[in-house]
Amino acid sequence: MEKIFKRTTVTTALPYANGPVHIGHLAGVYVPADIYVRYLRLKKRDVLFIGGSDEHGVPITIKAKKEGVTPQDIVDRYHTIIKKSFEDLGVSFDIYSRTTSKTHYEQASEMFKTIYNKGGFIEKTSEQYYDEEAQTFLADRYITGTCPHCNSEGAYGDQCEHCGTSLNPTDLINPKSAISGSAPVMKETKHWFLPLDKHEEWLRQWILEEHKEWKTNVYGQCKSWLDMGLQPRAVSRDLDWGIPVPIEGAEGKVLYVWFDAPIGYISNTKELLPDSWEKWWKDEDTRLIHFIGKDNIVFHCIVFPAMLKAEGSFILPDNVPANEFLNLEGDKISTSRNWAVWLHEYLIDFPGKQDVLRYVLTANAPETKDNDFTWKDFQARNNNELVAIFGNFVNRALVLTQKYFDGKVPETKGLAEVDTDVFAQIVALKDKIEENLENFRFRDALKEAMNVARIGNKYLADMEPWKLAKSDMDRVATILNISLQIAANLTIAFEPFLPFSTDRLCKMMNLDKQEWESFGSSLLLTAGHQLGTPELLFEKIEDAVVEAQVQKLLDTKKANQLAAWKPNDIKPEITFDAFEKLDIRVGTVKECTKVPKADKLLCFKIDDGSGTDRTIVSGIAAHYSPEELTGKQVCFIANLAPRKLKGIESQGMILSAESSDGALKVITPSGIVTPGSEVK
Ligand code: 2FM
Ligand code: ZN
Repeated sequence: MEKIFKRTTVTTALPYANGPVHIGHLAGVYVPADIYVRYLRLKKRDVLFIGGSDEHGVPITIKAKKEGVTPQDIVDRYHTIIKKSFEDLGVSFDIYSRTTSKTHYEQASEMFKTIYNKGGFIEKTSEQYYDEEAQTFLADRYITGTCPHCNSEGAYGDQCEHCGTSLNPTDLINPKSAISGSAPVMKETKHWFLPLDKHEEWLRQWILEEHKEWKTNVYGQCKSWLDMGLQPRAVSRDLDWGIPVPIEGAEGKVLYVWFDAPIGYISNTKELLPDSWEKWWKDEDTRLIHFIGKDNIVFHCIVFPAMLKAEGSFILPDNVPANEFLNLEGDKISTSRNWAVWLHEYLIDFPGKQDVLRYVLTANAPETKDNDFTWKDFQARNNNELVAIFGNFVNRALVLTQKYFDGKVPETKGLAEVDTDVFAQIVALKDKIEENLENFRFRDALKEAMNVARIGNKYLADMEPWKLAKSDMDRVATILNISLQIAANLTIAFEPFLPFSTDRLCKMMNLDKQEWESFGSSLLLTAGHQLGTPELLFEKIEDAVVEAQVQKLLDTKKANQLAAWKPNDIKPEITFDAFEKLDIRVGTVKECTKVPKADKLLCFKIDDGSGTDRTIVSGIAAHYSPEELTGKQVCFIANLAPRKLKGIESQGMILSAESSDGALKVITPSGIVTPGSEVK
């Protein structure tokens, strides 16, 4: 029999506070979690919704170093942006705190100590790269070198970003410290490890036997980790940013970010409820749910449960509904390449349209496989679904009531079969929505909620009350009463998904928020109830608006190509127009002399067909003697802005190419041509 829980603790992955959040984070974690929590609250279930920023880890220290500020400055900046943007999107956390809070330092230290005192860690000494100049051990990300697989420079100690291969720092050719630039040496260091191998047996039983109901992507990933066999994992690092390892002999060492971050869920609960937090984490009647992205599965399904078990007094997660990834316009979302739709920018570009984003990200959520966000789809879903179905229906119901009944809910005057039938359909949809929500299928739940609006729309279109207004006002009253009851039902069905719009709709209908159990009722509004003023619930998004967003992404793509360009690469693409601006001509060298006091320069007088000699100074003296080129025909750029070299004005540039031994060879036509003829 399924266990009945008294309460639910819902956590969302703590985003790293080294950048703002983007639509990938939202679709994967925060929007589904918020839908779930809002649904539970509407059902009057006891629920706590915990969020916060993950403020430790090496990338934060690297960013700080790059900017010449402290790690604390970095996390203060992004924690503020992230927290505000979540609030503005209506993500209804009970608390959104951070892992640099005092409570968290205490909680994480206490957890480490308890496990340590129970003998839950093993101590191991190993050799690691050390920077003797900076007198510090080097995190993998702080070591760069040549990739052994693709030979590109600047690969990191944990990964080559050029070919994507995962690396160990010792794989790098010519390793260098990113701190001092010196070559690191190997030095012994001690760390504490969580012996996951010792937890393997119960983890196998708990996940593979007792949690077969977990999403297939989650269950599958856990199974493959478990089948590979678990290894001890280090829970400490040599770093100066993080929570100090709270035991003697651990000076200079901090807790690994993945050890402290999930404890943040507990710390934040404790910060919110200092006196009653334990029941949310230690009572067997509490259900713990972690919303995360797929890259966090192993930490939430294997490592964190092993930590909780080793500590001994905590419950384990009941479910971990991890999502896959959302791509953007066909490409992987990337913070470093700025390939993202940033939430805080969206909120500025689309004021008042929080629900449009929530809707699109849910309708297109990467629940079972990676999915793609496109601005075209964003526009289409807004215009064809929110505006054309939901908005259109409620607007017609309210405007018609205004017109025929002064905005007062009319009384039903006898029910036809079609009227009762409509409500039977809605009740059936309620069951489907519930079933989907309870099982973390938010896309399907949203689809069914939209079907409530579809039913309303179809009902109004079929009944055509506007045609009956002269002949049968009783029927018009019934039809509009039913339509308004459906609209009132929409305020319940959509509250978890579109809280801003349901708030507005409630105001327009002068209706208090209803609880979930009232969903399906045909008596939410009493006859004579005065409605508020109808407004448009959603507005069309014009082509120009989404085109501007697409252009923003194209600009990013161009900027990335420019930034990634290396001397041997083909230069970034130019347009035909840009190419046509270049004027390349052939000229005959009439005179060529060395430029005094400049080893590299030759000065040319060139017959360019204009009747006046053209002077060009070129840096090829190391490759040609003046005599070799006199009388030869060369190609030159004729419309390059003149510039002075060693006091001589050079009116163009002679074209040359490099041979395999590095010598420069001037480009000449394969036969004699008229001086001044254009190279096409
Ligand atoms: O992947 C990430 O963004 C991590 N900061 C998630 C941490 S989740 C939890 F453990 F705090
Ligand atoms: Zn590589």
